[in-house]
Amino acid sequence: MCGIVGYAGKREAAPILLDGLKRLEYRGYDSAGIAVQDGSTHDAKVLRKVGRVAQLEDALQRSMPQGITGISHTRWATHGVPSVGNAHPHADCTAAFHVVHNGIIENYATLREELKGRGHRFSSETDTEVMAHLVEECFRGTLEDAVAEALRRLRGTWAFAVISSRDPGKVVAARNSSPLLLAIGDNEHFVASDASAVLSATKKVVYLEDGEMAVLTYDGFRISDVDDIELRKRLVEIPWTLEEAEKGGHSHFMHKEIWEGPEVVHNALRGRIRTKEGMVKLGGLEEVQERLYRAERLVLTGMGTAFHAALLGEYFLEELAGIPAETEYAAEFRYKKTPVARNSVLLAVSQSGETADTLAALRKAREQGMLALGIVNVVGSTIARETDAGIYNHAGPEIGVASTKAFLSQVVVLLLTSLFLGKQRGMDMGLAKEILEELEKIPEKMRKILRQEDQIKELANHYAAFHDFLFIGRKFSAPVALEGALKLKEISYLHAEGYNAAEMKHGPIAMIDENFPTVAVVPDDMIRDKTLSNMEEIRARQGPILAIATEGDRKVAEVATDTFFVPKTHEMLTPLLTTVPLQLLSYHLGVSKGYDVDKPRNLAKSVTVE
Ligand code: M6R
Repeated sequence: MCGIVGYAGKREAAPILLDGLKRLEYRGYDSAGIAVQDGSTHDAKVLRKVGRVAQLEDALQRSMPQGITGISHTRWATHGVPSVGNAHPHADCTAAFHVVHNGIIENYATLREELKGRGHRFSSETDTEVMAHLVEECFRGTLEDAVAEALRRLRGTWAFAVISSRDPGKVVAARNSSPLLLAIGDNEHFVASDASAVLSATKKVVYLEDGEMAVLTYDGFRISDVDDIELRKRLVEIPWTLEEAEKGGHSHFMHKEIWEGPEVVHNALRGRIRTKEGMVKLGGLEEVQERLYRAERLVLTGMGTAFHAALLGEYFLEELAGIPAETEYAAEFRYKKTPVARNSVLLAVSQSGETADTLAALRKAREQGMLALGIVNVVGSTIARETDAGIYNHAGPEIGVASTKAFLSQVVVLLLTSLFLGKQRGMDMGLAKEILEELEKIPEKMRKILRQEDQIKELANHYAAFHDFLFIGRKFSAPVALEGALKLKEISYLHAEGYNAAEMKHGPIAMIDENFPTVAVVPDDMIRDKTLSNMEEIRARQGPILAIATEGDRKVAEVATDTFFVPKTHEMLTPLLTTVPLQLLSYHLGVSKGYDVDKPRNLAKSVTVE
């Protein structure tokens, strides 16, 4: 996820682009850059800085480029570490074409080799740069034709904005799976990743769809498909305030990020699976394939929500790959005297890639000669840099302190890792295929849950009267119960205990009475009947029960006080569905109590101290 703003108008472009970037910073903030066409020479003045938009602003204040056409970008690294060289805009060999991009060009490695073979010189590690060189090659007189031709050679996802000194005064934009809109002002036109970037100038926008392109100048715009068929599009009036728009119309980042779940799952899968063959391709693990093949034991580690994802990873790895796996709190692993078995692997899970305990566990594992892998969301973070190999989540920036979408992507990546290792160890490829087929259906099933948010809100209103909660589940639902309880604690400051349902009779059941509700995660899986028995025991003690069950499970609904149904899926994938209503439940409970759910008290997004 990155932020794009482009401008063609009559005012000075640089301050407008800068203002837009500040509003898009939530989409990425590891580096930022701007290219503005000089009014007389038409050459682009480019400025790029590592870090937040504020760093770019400082540099601009010292030397503001003059010109009325330009593009800009705030980056969330996917290919190549955050650095000036990898920051956008990227240019071709002649510096006549400048490109900003959001998305992933899947065939960039092949294109890069082909372009190099034809004499192009590359100056970054990004996938984006191939587009600048392709446009240079395809240019025959108009920028839009060159962009259209270049797009035909790409595979992947994109939102592009391109300018050229050889066809000045114009911004050409294109979209495929990454958001982009055109905004219409008075003698000025914009492109942007979302409306928040342009709202101070205009509320009139046109949303571009996949496969569409736009050409904008100060006095007009034209939208077409890549075959140059002109399209008539509906003008939309944005009803939001600036602040609302930054959150895409959601009242909080946490809410927006929960709603991004389907997209996040999709992004974690993109370019990594060949469903028909049951195959998983994880480029990040290829270099260490041999060592992974010899792995005899796997230790998963993390803290908080990442630890809960790791617990699920333990189940997946043992079931799918048959590797002995165990999960340890990173904070414990770093101080324990763990005997290191031969060919042991540590797998660190961390959204931020900066959690102090997880980093320390990773360093200790490497000192002990273990192969250290990472599942990290923030590209270029310390954990990502210090692992031997790893896989990025591609979940985009998570702003809300509560980890929501990151958890879902961690679960997907752990499943893919288990299938990858399973294939090495001769797992049943029919099962791999079945899981991948079901995984592809998860985004739509998640959307179905999200569409029932009102029902969860009502449940939240009802359960807001209670002060203590027990969350239970077994097997794949046990980590979900722990995660549900953690979310409730951190967002609504309510006392919640997460337990494996089997532990009920060994203590927690003593707390149960009519004032102590239980949230039972009881999807249709091989252990569902056991959890159902625990629910019966709770009901016998007058404990209210909110069940998260599979559609059509009438028996669970009979035993529970309230039931929220999720669509049916493979039992290993149930956490991807049952977690979503629990995230929404804690969100609505927190909001109903008037708490700042994006910044819960006493917490920080990244825990960089012990
Ligand atoms: O950035 P990390 O994934 O390493 O963070 C780990 C925990 O601090 C984090 O998951 C925390 O528990 C969340 N606030 C939970 O929502």
